Amino acid sequence: MGRGLAALSLLVLLAVGARAGCPFGFGGGLEDAEGGIKGTGRRLQQAGCNINTLAQQAVTAPFVPANPLQGQVDKYVKEVAWNVFQTGFPGFVPGLFKNGRLNSANVPLGGLLRLSFHDAGPFNRATGRGGANGSLRFELGVKPNTNQNIIIAAGLCDRWRTMINNALAADPKVPRGVQISYADVYQLIGAAVVVAAGGPSKAEVYDPLPVGRRDALVADNVAQMPGGGISWNNLACLFLTNGYSLEELVALSGAHELGFRQDRTTPMTANPNSFTNEYFSAVINGARNLFNSDRVLWGNHARSNAAVQTFANNRAAFFTAFAKAYNKMGRMGATWQSYGAKLKA
Ligand code: HEM
Repeated sequence: MGRGLAALSLLVLLAVGARAGCPFGFGGGLEDAEGGIKGTGRRLQQAGCNINTLAQQAVTAPFVPANPLQGQVDKYVKEVAWNVFQTGFPGFVPGLFKNGRLNSANVPLGGLLRLSFHDAGPFNRATGRGGANGSLRFELGVKPNTNQNIIIAAGLCDRWRTMINNALAADPKVPRGVQISYADVYQLIGAAVVVAAGGPSKAEVYDPLPVGRRDALVADNVAQMPGGGISWNNLACLFLTNGYSLEELVALSGAHELGFRQDRTTPMTANPNSFTNEYFSAVINGARNLFNSDRVLWGNHARSNAAVQTFANNRAAFFTAFAKAYNKMGRMGATWQSYGAKLKA
């Protein structure tokens, strides 16, 4: 009896202590109802995340050397990639468009946009590891990258990358050795999908993305990717400690405008193949098809509330904010190569 009481008191003490020191709710860990991995909450807790303090700090985009592929070449490589993405190789490799119409039947638009986040997302600012480095190709089949759409999307990127590099190699104007990396393709394709689906313009989201990212040769730690069931505290801390603002978190989450839940048939918004700002009204209304990670953007912090409201009211403001945040995401953790060569006349 005495021993039982002592054990009970110890349990109560532990529980109170854990609650007192833990800004992430009891238990910690990234709730993983849809693929997040447990344990990250504890790491964030150790980092001493304070949402209110971090939310006040200005976070600048990571440094990128000016024109890693020397201006002209950068632009040209991106144009070659753009053309390949549009139509693929008709009859062999699908493109984003078929006979002038969005090819959503043969190309998983949502999976392709999601893939850009899943390559760049495992960036860890504290250690400097991970990021937009092409490592996604080693992470397929590992939770949360087990979804069929992301696997199909990665396969398409492989084939587009080969097509782009063949076109570059055959072009006498392009200096020898200029190739596009997996990391570049993963970031460019997300932007190309957003443009194709009626989102921000090419000039706004695609053209400003530099190319020249180096490819990693091993997987990143995907354990730090958030799951759909993640709590507000864990989500906000994850993004803030990795150098995003709350406004950028809200803007990037607007990617859930496109695509489907993991059953691959339930659309997240009313128009899953169209990039608009409808997602934000769905967030305000707590729409059931969205994830917890989407719904918590409303009702937890004045800054995320304000961003959700602005983006719901003003599509152009969302597009501008998304394009900027997406370009920042595509620089996170990237390392750059430079060929130091110009296009030949
Ligand atoms: C903010 C934290 C985020 C969480 C917790 C999250 C979580 C998820 C989950 C659980 C799914 C369904 C997974 C599955 O089908 O197996 C999903 C789908 C998707 N995510 Fe996110 N995501 C986040 C941010 C992002 C970002 C930043 C982007 C892109 C910029 C993005 C793009 C997408 C897209 C387009 C889909 C639909 C995929 C499809 O149609 O197959 N997500 N997300």
